[in-house]
Amino acid sequence: MMSRGGYIRYFPIFSTLLAITLTAGLVAVNGDVEKDFYIIFLRDQPIFSRELSVDEESLFKLHIDVLSTLKGSDVDAKESHVYSYTKIFNAFAAKLSRDEVKKLSRMDEVHAVFKNQYQKLLTTRSWDFLGFPQTIRRNLKMERDIIIGVLDSGITPNSESFKDDGLGPPPVRWKGSCGPFVNFSGCNNKLIGAKYFKLDQEQLPAGEILSPVDVEGHGTHVSSTAAGSVVANASVYGLGRGTARGAVPSARLAMYKVCWGGCADMDLLAAFEAAISDGVDIISLSIGSPSKDILTAIGVASFLAMRAGVITVASAGNDGPTPGTVENHAPWILTVAATGIDRQFRSKVVLGNGKTTSGKEINTFNPKRKFYPLVSGADAAKAYASKENASHCIENSIDPVKVKGKLVLCNLVELNTDSYIKSIGGIGTIFNADDLDIAEPIYMAPATAVNSTEVEPINDYIHSQRSPSAVIHKSQEVKIPAPFMYFASSRGPSPGSEYILKPDIAAPGVGILAAYTPLATLTGRKGDTQHSKFSFMTGTSMAFPHISSVAGYVKSFHPDWPPTVIKSAIMTTGRTNLSSRVDSDAEFAYGACQMNPTKAVNPGLVYNIGNEDDYIPFLCREGYSGSILALLFSYNVNCSDYPPPTSHDALNYPTMQLHLKNTQRPTTVVFQRTVTNVGPSPSIYNATITAPKGVEITVKPMSLSFSTAFQERNFRVVVKAQPMSKGVKIISSSLSWRSSRHVFRSPIVIYQ
Ligand SMILES: *[C@@H]1O[C@H](CO)[C@@H](O)[C@H](O)[C@H]1NC(C)=O
Ligand SMILES: *[C@@H]1O[C@H](CO)[C@@H](O)[C@H](O)[C@H]1NC(C)=O
Ligand SMILES: *[C@@H]1O[C@H](CO)[C@@H](O)[C@H](O)[C@H]1NC(C)=O
Ligand SMILES: *[C@@H]1O[C@H](CO)[C@@H](O)[C@H](O)[C@H]1NC(C)=O
Repeated sequence: MMSRGGYIRYFPIFSTLLAITLTAGLVAVNGDVEKDFYIIFLRDQPIFSRELSVDEESLFKLHIDVLSTLKGSDVDAKESHVYSYTKIFNAFAAKLSRDEVKKLSRMDEVHAVFKNQYQKLLTTRSWDFLGFPQTIRRNLKMERDIIIGVLDSGITPNSESFKDDGLGPPPVRWKGSCGPFVNFSGCNNKLIGAKYFKLDQEQLPAGEILSPVDVEGHGTHVSSTAAGSVVANASVYGLGRGTARGAVPSARLAMYKVCWGGCADMDLLAAFEAAISDGVDIISLSIGSPSKDILTAIGVASFLAMRAGVITVASAGNDGPTPGTVENHAPWILTVAATGIDRQFRSKVVLGNGKTTSGKEINTFNPKRKFYPLVSGADAAKAYASKENASHCIENSIDPVKVKGKLVLCNLVELNTDSYIKSIGGIGTIFNADDLDIAEPIYMAPATAVNSTEVEPINDYIHSQRSPSAVIHKSQEVKIPAPFMYFASSRGPSPGSEYILKPDIAAPGVGILAAYTPLATLTGRKGDTQHSKFSFMTGTSMAFPHISSVAGYVKSFHPDWPPTVIKSAIMTTGRTNLSSRVDSDAEFAYGACQMNPTKAVNPGLVYNIGNEDDYIPFLCREGYSGSILALLFSYNVNCSDYPPPTSHDALNYPTMQLHLKNTQRPTTVVFQRTVTNVGPSPSIYNATITAPKGVEITVKPMSLSFSTAFQERNFRVVVKAQPMSKGVKIISSSLSWRSSRHVFRSPIVIYQ
C-alpha cells in the first residue's frame, strides 16, 4: 500500500487547460456545460504487480466508484465513463466538465489527469544502401519470436508483404487477438494480431472503416518496412524495382489502429496497454505533436512500457529544419530522424527546340505524344484573376480554355496543383520549386519539378516561340550522393530537456518503397487513378520502422537485453561519416549517427540504465514531482531525498549534451558514465577524443579493462567549453572507446 499524504500533485495538461479556459470561458451548449474527454490515472498501477493476476473487474469497479463519488450517482458515473485501462495501467477515460476535472484532481486516488488530445500521424533499396544485404547472418530461430507492435492507421492484411510462408505459429507467450472485423481478411502467422481503438465514437472521416484495415496507406507502409516478408520484384509502376523487405522478415507484426485522421491520446493509451499485455517486444509509432512536456500521455505510456521490458521506437517528427522541433523526446524513447538514400527519381523534360532538363519527384506516366503545347500559368489567367495567382496556378485562377491539352508551367505553392491542372483539362504540370523534398513524392498526373535555375531557359523558350511545346518523360532512377538529411526531419535541441540530445539516431526515410493499401490511390488527391501494391513515401515515419526492425534484429541475437541496452547498442555503433550533404545542424539533425544494423548486434560495450529509479534525479530536475512520479515509479518519490546529481545530465545516456549559458566565461561540466561489457573478455578499451578549438575534453581513466562478461566500469568526462561564436548552432565533439575489435562512440554536443 502506498502512503498518500504530503506530496504535490502535478497536472501538466491541467495547467494548460486552465490557461485556455480563462481566455475562452466555458461554452454552454443547450444549458449543458461543455465536456471533454480526459484520461485519469489512479495510484497503484497493475504493471508493477505482474506476478499477481490483475483483477480487472475490481479495477473497473473502482473506476466507476471514483466517478460515482464525483457525480453522486452510479448512473451518471456510467454515462460519463468511456473506457477502463485495467491490464497495464490503472486509469480510465471519461467525458467530463472542467469543474468535474478540478474536483477529481483533488481526490487522493487520482495521480494524474490528461486532457485527451489529438496527435498527428507523422506522415527497398534502403536496406542494401545501409550495407544490410538480404543474405545477412540472421538468427532465424529467435527472429521468429520477435513481435513488433505498430500503432498507426491500420494495415492491409492480404498484402504480399505480410504473407506468412515458412512461419510457424506465433510464440506461445502471444496473447493477442484478431477480430473478426469488417473489411479485414484476417491474420496469419506473420500478422499475428490486429485491434482498433476509436473511443470518442465520433463520426468516421469519409472512406474510413471501423476495422484495423488501412484505408490510408501509412500503417501498411510502416509495417512492411518494420517486418515485411521478402517480396521480389516490388515496384511502383516499374519504378524502384527490387526486393521489398524488413530487416527481420521472419519477425511477427501486430497492428493497433489508433489514427482516424487524428490519433487520440485515449486510443493511444489503450493501444499501448493492449500491445504490452498481448506480448509485443517493440512498440513503434510515428504519432506525436510538439510539446515541451516529457510526461505527455505517450511519455507516461512509453515509460510504463519500458518497465514492462518493451522498447518504444518513435519518429522525431517532420517539422524541421526549424530548431527545437523534435517530438517524442522522452529519454526512454528511441527517437528517429530521417535521411536520404542514394537513389533519386528524375524525369526528363524535352522542349520543342530540343533542349532538355530534368525534374524531380516521381512521375509514373509515359507520354502518349511526342510533344504537347506548353503554356505558362501566368499567361493563362482567368478574367479577374491576378497574374500572380495564375503564375502559381492557384485554384480558380486559370482559364481552362487556355490550358486545355497543354503542359502548364506553375510556381509551386500547393501540392495538389497537379490535380487542379488536370481537372481543368491540362495534360500536366512543370513546377518551379527549389529544395523540393515532399512527403508524398508522387504526382497524380504527368508532372515534374525543376528548380529556379533550371526554369529560366524554359521561361525564355515559352516567350520566344509562337507555339512552344514540351514533353515530360516517365521518371528514371539516378544515383545521388548519400546519406543526407531529409530537410523536414525535426531538429534538436530537444524542447523537453536541455540535458538530452534528441533525436537519438537517423535512418533512411526519403523515397522509401514499401507496401501500400489498394483502398487508397497513390496520392489521395482528387482525380488520381493510380493504385499500386507498393508506394514511395518520405518522412521520419518511414525512418523509424527501420529502427524498430533493427531493434528486433538486435533482440533476435540478445533476447534478454532490456530496452536501454538495445537502444545503446544501436546508438553507439552507427556510421558518422554522413557525407558532405549532411547539413550544419549536425547531431541536432541526425542524433548519434546513422544506424548500422550489423554492428549494433555486437557493440562491445553498452550504457545500461539498469534501474528505472535512475531516472528520478533527472525527472526531479526537469521539474516533475509528486503524484506524476508516484505514477511512474509506484511509490511516493520525494525529490528532496535525492542529492543534486553529480553527473551533468543525471542519466547514463549514450550521448552527452551541454547547453552553455555563460556567454562570457568558459563552462566546465562533468559527465559520469558506467559501461557494461557485452563483448569478449578479457578486453581493453582506450579513449579517443575529438574536439574542436575552444573545447577541452578529458576522460578519466583513459583506459578500461574488462576481465569478465557483464563487468561494469565507470569513467568521468570533463568538458570545458568557451562561449560560442555568434552564428554557430552546434559544436560537435566525441568520445570513442576503441578495443581491437570494437569502436564504441558517443557524440558530445555543445550549444548555446
Ligand atoms: C466493406 O464491407 C462492406 C460490407 O461487406 C462492403 O459493402 C464495402 O464495399 C466494403 N468496403 C470496402 C472499401 O471494401
Ligand atoms: C516483375 O513484375 C512485372 C510487372 O510489374 C512483370 O512484368 C515481370 O515479369 C516481373 N518479373 C519477374 C522476374 O517476375
Ligand atoms: C489570389 O488567391 C487568393 C487565395 O486563393 C485569393 O484569396 C485572392 O482573392 C486571389 N486574388 C485574385 C486577384 O484573384
Ligand atoms: C538547380 O539544379 C542544378 C542542377 O541540379 C544546380 O546546378 C543549381 O545550382 C540548382 N539551382 C538552385 C537555385 O538550386
